[in-house]
Parts: sequence; C-alpha cells; structure tokens
Amino acid sequence: MRTWWLLSLGALVVVVLIIVGALLKRPSYPEGDVVLVGKRVRASGGQSADLVERGRQLYIAMCMTCHGRQANGLPVTPEGLRTQVGEPILARDFTGQTHTAGKVVFKYTWQGWGGEFASDEDLKHVIREGLRGTPMPGFEGLSEEDLDALVAYIKSLHPGWKTFQSPSPPSVRVPSDLDATHRIEEGRALFQQKCVTCHGDPESGRPPIAQPLQWYYPGTDSVLMVTARDFLHEPLRLPDPVDVFRTIRKGIGGTTMNPQTWAELTDDQIWSLVSYIRYLQRQGQEKKQLAQNQE
Ligand code: HEC
Ligand code: HEC
Repeated sequence: MRTWWLLSLGALVVVVLIIVGALLKRPSYPEGDVVLVGKRVRASGGQSADLVERGRQLYIAMCMTCHGRQANGLPVTPEGLRTQVGEPILARDFTGQTHTAGKVVFKYTWQGWGGEFASDEDLKHVIREGLRGTPMPGFEGLSEEDLDALVAYIKSLHPGWKTFQSPSPPSVRVPSDLDATHRIEEGRALFQQKCVTCHGDPESGRPPIAQPLQWYYPGTDSVLMVTARDFLHEPLRLPDPVDVFRTIRKGIGGTTMNPQTWAELTDDQIWSLVSYIRYLQRQGQEKKQLAQNQE
C-alpha cells in the first residue's frame, strides 16, 4: 500500500513539473505583433503541404526563439542574441526582410558568394552540425524526415525558391598530406598575400578587422558588422576540412569575403590555406591549454 502511495505521489510531482516547465518555456507574445509563422502556410512548387506544415510546427518548437516569429531573424526576446561584448547577433532571416537587397542569402553553401539560397544538403548540414562560436546549435538527433520538413518550411518563406534548382555538391577529396609541414608553409605564405587585410596577421599579432554584413539590424538602417574570423582565438563555424575548403573556394555569402579576389589560386593552393588555418587552430588550442595549466 505504502509503495503504491509513494508511486502515485511521485507521478503527480512529475506531471506538475512538466506542466510548470511547459508554461515557463512558452514564449510570451508582445501585443500587436504579427504572428506570421503562426498562420497555416500554403506550400509552393511541388512541396507537399503536409511536409511544410510539419516543418512549421518544428520551426515553432525549435527555431522560432532565435529566428523570429516572422522567420526574419528578429529575436523573440527584447534583448535578443548578443556576443560576449554585447553586440547584437541576428539569426538568419529566411524571408529577405532584413537583407539590404531583400534577398535570402546563406553563408555556408556551395552556391557561394553572390548566390542566393542553398542546396537542401547544405541547409541540412548546418542544421545537423550547428555553427560553432555562434548561438546556432546543432540538431543531431533530427530524423531525415524532420530535416526535410524544416527545409521545406524554410523554402516556403521566399518566392525565389520556386525557380531555384538545387544542384548536388561536387565531390571533394581531402589530400592525404593535409597537415604536412610543406603545406602549412605554403599556406602561411598565401595567407600573408591574400588574407591578412581582413583576418589580421596571426604571425605578428595584428588583430582581424570588423566588416559590414548585408543585413540591417531590423527596424534600423544600420547594417550589422562582423569581425573577420580570428583563427587563433575563435572556433571555425564549420571545422570539417571540406567545409573550410568550400568557404575559401566559394566565399561567404552576405559578407565581404569575396573569393573573386583569389580566383587564380588552384584547388591545391586552397588546400594549403586550409592546412595553415588548421595549424593556427591547433596553435590557439595549445596556448589556451598552457594558460589554463598555469592558473
Ligand atoms: C539559440 C538560437 C538559435 C536556434 C534555436 C536556432 N538557430 Fe539557426 N541560427 C542562429 C544564428 C545566430 C545564426 C547565424 C549565425 C551566423 O550567421 O554566423 C543561425 C543560422 C542558421 C542558418 C543559416 C546557415 C547559413 O548557411 O547561412 C540556418 C539554415 C539555420 N540557422 C536553421 C535553423 C533551424 C532550422 C533551427 C531549428 C531547428 C535553428 N536554426 C535554430 C541561431 C539559432
Ligand atoms: C575582405 C575581407 C576578407 C578577406 C580578404 C578574407 N576574408 Fe575570410 N572572412 C571574412 C569575414 C568578414 C569572415 C566572417 C564571416 C562571418 O562569420 O559571417 C570570414 C571568415 C572566414 C572563414 C571562417 C569559416 C568558418 O567556418 O568559420 C575562413 C575559413 C576564411 N574566412 C578564410 C579566408 C582565407 C583563407 C582568406 C584568404 C584567401 C580570406 N578568408 C580572406 C572576410 C575576409
């Protein structure tokens, strides 16, 4: 009898905790805000309406806090997302409302610089992996169906997707001598020629410089800024060598990192840059480790 009572009491406590948790987690809607993502969306171009609707539900549950109620990157909380020094960070705008030319631009895609949109695979890759050094978490546990649904929902948010052909990514082979010294040295020399203007000089300690992005901070006419990556002190958003290769070959959409400036570099030279950046990441890690050990 006693165990029975204890069990029911335990179950009651769990139920109450779940309800309280759900209430606490529910975002509050400021009055007069248009809840665009709350409406049923009509599917576009061959996508099944059910899939888009499922994506919308997943979006509301997992993405809306950061990507916004209208999916335009406007944060749900008044303070929004901030860097450690208090600068605003915007999650990607999927509607084009805050882009300076009304475009939907993705950063980590084979479409690269100047291209809009992204392939389904590139989108799923970012959703699975997340972007290190930013608030964007990785959602490893999502099933392929859920990923398809999220991608279908994202693609229902801008009419330009209807005519966009999603090409399959090229197959890229990582060289077997990626981290060899001769590559690091070649990469170091190329980096000095082509990259230090924005990324600063890790050899002399000159820091990277702030660069304008193509997105307005919503409701203002000032564009957001980002500092070019500091390879010694910051993680790569996507650390896989193939991703780093793509970023250098194709550039980063929506930012100043235009690969036309080094279009003459061969794929092999790009791999040497990847090698040098990986070397800088290791150096940074070692320094951090040393500093921690001395504390
Ligand atoms: C805690 C906040 C947060 C959550 C939750 C979140 N994101 Fe993000 N997301 C971000 C931020 C911030 C960026 C922009 C990072 C940058 O530009 O450096 C981003 C960027 C993206 C990008 C752009 C990738 C590119 O190539 O430009 C996609 C796609 C994306 N998020 C999808 C999602 C989806 C789908 C979900 C829900 C399953 C989600 N995000 C949940 C914060 C978040
Ligand atoms: C005109 C300025 C500029 C130049 C020149 C430039 N970059 Fe960048 N780069 C940036 C900016 C800005 C970012 C950060 C973009 C962001 O996070 O939104 C960046 C980010 C990166 C990243 C980060 C990718 C990740 O996953 O985090 C890599 C790798 C990179 N640059 C490599 C290079 C290499 C190699 C060169 C030289 C061939 C180079 N860049 C030249 C501006 C520049």
